[in-house]
Amino acid sequence: MIDIKAAITAVGAYVPEYRLTNSILETMVDTNDEWITSRTGIKERRILKDPTQGSSFLAIQAAHDLINKTQLDPTTIDLVIVATVTPDMPVASTAAYVATQIGAINAFSYDLMAACSGFLYGMSTASAYIESGRYKKILLIGADKMSSIIDYKDRATCIIFGDGAGAVLFEPNTEGNGFQDEILRSDGTGRNFLRIEAGGSLMPASQETVENNRHYVFQDGKNVFKHAVSNMADVSEQIVKRNDLTNDDIDWLVPHQANKRIIDATAKRIDLPEDQVMINIHKYGNTTSATLPLCLNDYEKQLKKGDQLVFAAFGGGFTWGSILLKWAYNTN
Ligand code: UT7
Repeated sequence: MIDIKAAITAVGAYVPEYRLTNSILETMVDTNDEWITSRTGIKERRILKDPTQGSSFLAIQAAHDLINKTQLDPTTIDLVIVATVTPDMPVASTAAYVATQIGAINAFSYDLMAACSGFLYGMSTASAYIESGRYKKILLIGADKMSSIIDYKDRATCIIFGDGAGAVLFEPNTEGNGFQDEILRSDGTGRNFLRIEAGGSLMPASQETVENNRHYVFQDGKNVFKHAVSNMADVSEQIVKRNDLTNDDIDWLVPHQANKRIIDATAKRIDLPEDQVMINIHKYGNTTSATLPLCLNDYEKQLKKGDQLVFAAFGGGFTWGSILLKWAYNTN
C-alpha cells in the first residue's frame, strides 16, 4: 500500500497596508519603543482600518495570493478551513463566505477556533483528511482582525496584536514529504488568563458588558508567558526526540509569534541557531491564527524540498502543540 502523506504545496498571505508603529502607540498609551522592543521584539503591526471589512477580507486576499501564484483552479478545492478568533459574525461561518468568494464552489467549509493554536490544530485536521484519502485539496487559512477585539487604551494588550492572514494548500504526497508527527495539548484551567469574557453564552452582550469593556481581550501576560515558554519548549523537544532526531536534523523552527523571548526560549531548548528560526514578529506583532502561515510565506524562498520543519504554538484555552513536517517543494 502506498503511504500517503499530507504535504503543503503552496503558500499565500496578506497583511493590510497601515503600519501601527511603536512610536504611534507612544501617543496612544503610556508606553515606549524601548519597553515594547525589549519585552516583545515587536516594532510595528499591520491594522485593517476599513471598518466595513472583517477577517474574511484578510482571508480572501491571502487565498487570492495563493491562487494567483499557483494558478490553482478553485473549483478543485474540496475543503476550506478558516482558523480564526475573529469571525466576521458569531453565527454564519466565515469559511463558507470565503470559499464562495474565492470560487471554491465545490468545497465544504468551516471555521476552527483554538486561539493562537488554531492554525496548528488546522494543520492536524487537514493532514488527517488527506492521509485518509478522503479529500485531495484542502485550503487552510489563518486569518484574524485582532484590532476588532483590542482595547487601544490597554497598554498590556494593544502593543502586542496585529491583523493579517496566511493560507496553505494541503495535497497528497507519495515521496515521504509532508506531515510526519504531532503533539497537541490543551488545558482548560488556563482560560481565565487569556480571554474575552463577554459575547458568548456565559455572558451574553448587554449594555453593562459594553460599558465595562468586557468585549476586549484580557491577558494576564506574566502567567501566559510562563506557560507559553515551558509548554512550547517541552512539546518541541519531545517531538524532536520521539522521532529520533537531533538539532542537526532540524532545518527550521516555525514558532507562533507571540513574544520574541518565547521564540528564543523554544529555539534554545532544541538547540537551533537564530538563522534557522522563522521570525517576523518585529513586522506584524501577534496575528493569532495567521502567525505560522505568515512565517511560511516570508521564508518560502529559503525552504528546500525535504527540509524538516518543527512548528510550535501556544494560545488561549490554554491550547498548544508541536508538528513535525517535511517541506515538499523548491521555489525558484
Ligand atoms: O499568543 C498567545 C499567547 N500570548 C503570549 O504568549 C503572551 C505572553 N506574555 C507576554 O508576552 C508578556 O507577558 C507581555 C509582553 C504581555 C508583558 O511583558 P512582561 O515582561 O511579562 O511584563 P509585565 O506584565 O510583568 O509588566 C512589567 C511592568 C509592569 O510595571 P510594574 O508593575 O513593574 O511597575 C507593567 O505595568 O511593565 C509595565 N508594562 C508596561 N510598560 C510600558 C506593562 N505593559 C507595558 C507597556 N509599556 N506596554
